[in-house]
This record gives sequence, C-alpha cells and structure tokens, in this order.
Amino acid sequence: MNSWSLIYEDFDPEQEKLREALCTLGNGYFCTRGAAPESQDDGVHYPGTYLAGGYNRLNTDIAGRTIENEDLVNLPNWLPLSFRPDGGEWLDLDRVEILDFRQQLHLRIGVLRRKIRFKDSEGRLTFLDQRRFVHMGHRHLAAMETTLRPENWSGTLEIRSALDGRVINNNVPRYRDLASRHLEPVGTEQINQETIYLKSRTRQSRIEIALAARTRYEVGGEAQKQARHLERTDDYISQLIRLDVKQGQQIRIEKTVSLFTSRDEAISECGLDACKAISRAPGFNELLEEHTMRWQHLWRRYGMDLEEDDSEKGARNKMILRLHIFHLLQTVSMQTIKLDVGVPSRGWHGEAYRGHIFWDELFIFPLLNLRTPEITRTLLNYRYRRLNEARAAAQAAGYAGAMYPWQSGSDGREESQKVHLNPKSDNWIPDNSRLQRHVNSAIAWNAWQYYQATGDLEFLCFYGAEMILEIARFWASLATWSEEHQRYEILGVMGPDEYHDAYPDSDKPGLDNNAYTNVMAVWVFICALKVLDTLPRDRHRELTEGLDLQDEEIRKWDHISRRMRLVFHDDGIISQFEGYDQLEEFDWQSYQEKYGRVMRLDRILEAENDTPNRYKCSKQGDVLMLFYLFSADELGEIFERLGYPFEYETIPKNIDYYLQRTSHGSTLSQVVHSWVLTRSDRAESWDLYTMALRSDIDDIQGGTTPEGIHLGAMAGTVDLIQRAYTGIETRGEVLRLNPCLPKEIKSLCLRLRYRGQSLDLSITPKKMTLQCHECRVEPIKVAYCEDERRLCGGEKVEFDLK
Ligand code: BGC
Repeated sequence: MNSWSLIYEDFDPEQEKLREALCTLGNGYFCTRGAAPESQDDGVHYPGTYLAGGYNRLNTDIAGRTIENEDLVNLPNWLPLSFRPDGGEWLDLDRVEILDFRQQLHLRIGVLRRKIRFKDSEGRLTFLDQRRFVHMGHRHLAAMETTLRPENWSGTLEIRSALDGRVINNNVPRYRDLASRHLEPVGTEQINQETIYLKSRTRQSRIEIALAARTRYEVGGEAQKQARHLERTDDYISQLIRLDVKQGQQIRIEKTVSLFTSRDEAISECGLDACKAISRAPGFNELLEEHTMRWQHLWRRYGMDLEEDDSEKGARNKMILRLHIFHLLQTVSMQTIKLDVGVPSRGWHGEAYRGHIFWDELFIFPLLNLRTPEITRTLLNYRYRRLNEARAAAQAAGYAGAMYPWQSGSDGREESQKVHLNPKSDNWIPDNSRLQRHVNSAIAWNAWQYYQATGDLEFLCFYGAEMILEIARFWASLATWSEEHQRYEILGVMGPDEYHDAYPDSDKPGLDNNAYTNVMAVWVFICALKVLDTLPRDRHRELTEGLDLQDEEIRKWDHISRRMRLVFHDDGIISQFEGYDQLEEFDWQSYQEKYGRVMRLDRILEAENDTPNRYKCSKQGDVLMLFYLFSADELGEIFERLGYPFEYETIPKNIDYYLQRTSHGSTLSQVVHSWVLTRSDRAESWDLYTMALRSDIDDIQGGTTPEGIHLGAMAGTVDLIQRAYTGIETRGEVLRLNPCLPKEIKSLCLRLRYRGQSLDLSITPKKMTLQCHECRVEPIKVAYCEDERRLCGGEKVEFDLK
C-alpha cells in the first residue's frame, strides 16, 4: 500500500466518473477533473474544468414555473489530445484491448499519471505514458506530457490537439431538465505554429474565458516542425499533425495551456494575457519542478504523521487522509488568497450543488485556521463583501441586521433551489432548505474562531466585528417574546437536519425552537458582546455610530442571551425542535430490510407518498452539533446562563438518543457523530471515523461523488485528527490541548500555526511535546489541563499525559 498515491489498476467504465472526481487536479484558481484527454462527455466520461467562483445564471421553465439557477460553469475543455495510427481509429479505451493499465494520482507532487499498454483492432500494440498537473505556483497554467511507443508497428501517427468550447453543464443527472448551455463562443485563432487559442463567454454573467494551448512534438528525441492541419469553428479549434514513427521509437508530446478570465487582476485583456503567458511558459519538466516545490511547501504545513496499529489498514487510512488534504488544497490554496471566492461544499470538482457555498465552511476552516489562516481570511472576506446583500435579504424579509443565504454564489443572494427533483419518484418538490438560518451563526462562529487562532485584531475591527454584530441584530429581530413561556423563541426555521422542514400536517414550512438554532443564536449574542468589549475604543465608536447600534439594543441582546427558550422531552433529552416528541418513531428495521442502508430516507419516503416530517429520524447531527462545536464546559455555561439544567449525563444521553435516530444522509453526519463520541465510546467513534474516511473514495452515498467531492467531510476527517484527538481549543489567549488518541493510533505528529508561531506537536499515549520554530513573535501560552506554560520561538515543552 502506497500512502502517497491513489492508484487504479484497471479501467472500469462504471467507476470512471467517480475516479475523475477523485483524480481532479487544481490549484484553488481552477480545477480539471481527472478525465482521459481523448474522452468526451459520453455517459462514461465527463471532462470538466471549473473556475473558482465561475458562475452563470440561466432560466428554465419547470414544474409550472420559471426558475433561475446559478451554476458553476463547465469551462471549455483544454485536455483534448488524441491519436491514431494511419487509417485506424482514434484512441477510445472502450474499443481497444487493454493489456496493462495503471492510473496513479501522486498526492505528494500533484501529478496524475496513467500508463496503458493496449492493442487496437488491427493488432497494433502501443504503450502510452501520460502525466499532467495544474500548476500550484502559476495559477493560470496546466501542462500534460504524453509519451507514446509503437511496440510492434511502424507507420504514420496522427495526433490531434484541441481546445473545445462546445461543452455544456451535464454532470448531474438530476439537473438534466434544467437549462445547461452557459457558454457562448467568442472565437478561435491559431496564434503561431505551436499555439491555438479559444475564447468563450458565459451567457449571463459575461465572464470571458481565454485559453491558449501550445503543443510540441518530439520523435526519438528530435523536435518535429511539420506543418499542422488546422480545423476550427467559433467554439472549437484543433491542430492535427502527421508523424512518421518507427517501432520502438518514443514520441513525446507536450501540451501546455494557459487559462485567463476577464475577472483576473493585473491583466490587460484575458486573451492577450493567455497568449503572453503561454509564450513565456517554460517546458514541462521545468514547470513540473516548480509545481513540485509548491506542493512540498503545502505538505510541510499540512502533512500529518500518524502511526496506526494495523499497518496495512493504517497506510490506506493515511492515504485517504492525504487525499482529503490534497483536495482541500486544490479547492482553496495560496492561489486563492485575494480572490473573491468562498469555499464550495463540493469542491471545484463537479457540478453538484452548483459550486455553492454553504455552512460547510464550519467544518473546513479549522484546518485552515491552524495552518494557513490567510486563506481563511480570504474566505471570510468573501462573506464580508456580501454583507450588503445579506442586509438587503434581512430587510426584504422584514428583519434587521444581515441574513446570509443558505446557498451563496456570485453576489451573495439566496441561491437555494426553489424546487428540487427526487430522482426516486421523478417529482419536483418544493425546497425549503433556505430556512436554515443557522448558516448565519456559522459565519459569526467562523469569524470569531479565525480571530481566536490568529489574534488578528485588524480583521476583527474592520470585517469580523461588523458581520458578527449584524448577525446578532438579525437574530434579535427574528426572536419573538412568548408571554406564555416568558422566554424568547425562534419560529419557522430549519435546523441542520434537512429531513424536517415542516410540521407533519402543516402547509407552512419551518419549525419552532430548533435547539441548535436557538443555542447558536445565544452564542452569537455572547460573542457580539465580547466583540464590543474587545474592540479598541475608537473603532468601537466608529462601528456603533456607523451601525447606529444603541445601548438599548445591546441590552436586549444580553437579555435574549439569558432568556432564549429550549424545549426538552423524556427526562433530559434536548428536543431537536418543539414538538419533536410528538413525532412517530420510525421503523428503521423494516426499511433497512427493504432498502438496505437507508441514507436518503427523504427520497424513499417522498416516493412512497410519505414524508420524514412525520418521524423521529434525522439526516445528520442537529442537536448533536452542539456537542461537536462546544466543549461540555462551554455548553454548561450557556445552559446555566439560560437557567436550564445541564447535567453530567446530558451529553451521553442525547448522543445515544439521536444517534439511534440518524440515517447519515449527509457525509457531514459521520464526522459529527464520530467527533462527539471521541471520548465516551472510542470504538464506535473509530467506526464512524473510518466510515467518514470512505465517504468519497468509496462513494458511500451511492453516486454523489462523481458529481463532486464532499469537502466538509474531507476536511472534517482531517480536523478530527487535528482537534478531536488532540483536544485542541483556541479559547481565550491560550492554545489548550487535551489529547485522547483512539487505541488504534500509536502516535501522531503534526504542525500547527498559532498566533504567528509554527509548532510541531507530537503525541503518544503517554507524552505530548510541542516544539516551537525559531521566530520573533510574542510568546504564546499553551496548556494541558491546568498546566499552563509560555512558549517562545525555538523552545520546546513536554507534558506527561494522564
Ligand atoms: C447537507 C447540508 C450541507 C449540504 C452541502 C446537504 O446534504 O444536509 O448540511 O450543507 O449538503 O454539503
């Protein structure tokens, strides 16, 4: 088992789209799926290239209304490269006999390689070795090297290298009835003998995309300068070359591509800059060298070393963890810094969820905060820039402050679908998921956590505070006073569990007093009060004046934070929402017997004319999110502030109750459940963790990963190692640790960045060591239980673990 590579030893048409998603290459600016360069969208293959934040809107008439969707656009395909022996067929893996096959994604260096020996229908044996990468340092560049060797034949070889702008969005079968032609052609051109050029434009958002491709050929080490035959239309351009080749000779082809768009900074015009970049780009090997170095830098920051008991399984788990880190860093990287993009829940790896930004940031940012917080800052700024849109949304809905959307895309308006298709029943059903107002608390949480990890007061002063205060304002305007209960309530919303969007017999969507929403709103008020205390006086004054924030309003926040209502049932169970206890128990057993693992219960029930709204069944952690985000102490403090009892058994009792009633219909679910069990049931926690690890590599949701990876679960599994097993908390001015390794892990080493310092952390069951790198920043405080120490650059501390 190679823990640095994802390897496939055969070509399996059924698995191809999954592999394409998992073998995607990218650099935070653009991503390209791991599709075979000779392939096209044909049911087996789906080449796709996506620009970070490259959205376009289209209208479709469906289910009796016109709906507008904003999609992540599949950009022109830069990959096309194919060949055929004179008079033969263009390479098509489905039509040749494959003798040897190996596809390898090299995680350490960000290179996708495939080696294939095959026999065509005429008995010609050919060997192909192909490597490619999307450059981690030069964000506009990608390169592919192809080596061919005719093993038992000589003759003419035709090679075609193209740029293809005829693509549409066709990755998600459920979206097939929706408009999908996002691009319109601008033109194509041959720039010089080696270089072709294509430009397209998105139809509504008017983003221009320019691609230039340079193709060079060598036979037996000699550069080939023959004339090339050009074919072109407005949205397709190719060059064809004919080479005389001899048995055993090496034919080497280098295709280097540049991609620019009209959204880029520091350009004149994207087409000009694409051509300029390609004319300056060095050859494949030189580009690869720098690309490799960039990955080395990333792995230095993000690498983790963990030793497991079972070395074979351990090596596979290690590889999957690396794959997860790898895809995170391809979605957001150093190249993302200063771009106006958020982090999409499905990566820039496919078209599911249309590249939208959800609350999944909550699961992703902790990893970035403790390694490259500058990336988090960029992603938080994506939210900050859309604060006015969130203000307008709040106002339009009759609220104060800022109401961020459940799904966010280009300008920050609500992008959730109005209706969605249940593929099990073929019904278009109303989508109420936008009622998940808890996304607002996640944004405030993320801004505060970033500040905790970095101490970046300037960010808090100029961006974070304003978002947090405006979100507090929104919650205060949404909360209503109940005379009956003498408490505040939040009515008509949805919690993270998407199976429940309304009361069983109600026409009106939304639920009352979702515990997660209410507690998080309380947390936002507490945080807002802390922020006001933290701000330097001059900035405090500017902000309160600018936002017209009066003392009375602040006093009300304090009051709500002490009088928010929570509902309980069955002796200490926190009700997911008011009325949850009235729902029927779900018959898990008979559904499991009938359908196997019933992850997407919502679809099954809707197809049976039923609804999960009637049952005590959750898609994912909802109440349990509280134990995921807060330590027992923190939650105890919130309950005390609210005047509710919080006993020692509250946590295990609730975990036990809800875990039995959860179908894990979201890949986030296993992460959350594994996390909350880390300390109480290590065996179950480990099982859920290994299941979360399999989410994408084994496509455990049955067909969702080909449409894009699940970045929340990917980052969440790594963060489980990073924070749950180490017990890291960045609370107050102290980096707190409280390790608890699962018995399967013998040791763990990782590198962290905290308040400007780089630290090497190593943990064994008995000992914890923190080594601080040489640096000149202020000493930091680290603590294990009550043992608090100061740590300066270059120093090391050790703790004996109890
Ligand atoms: C989950 C949400 C998540 C979304 C995007 C849904 O299936 O229920 O919690 O935000 O996927 O990942």
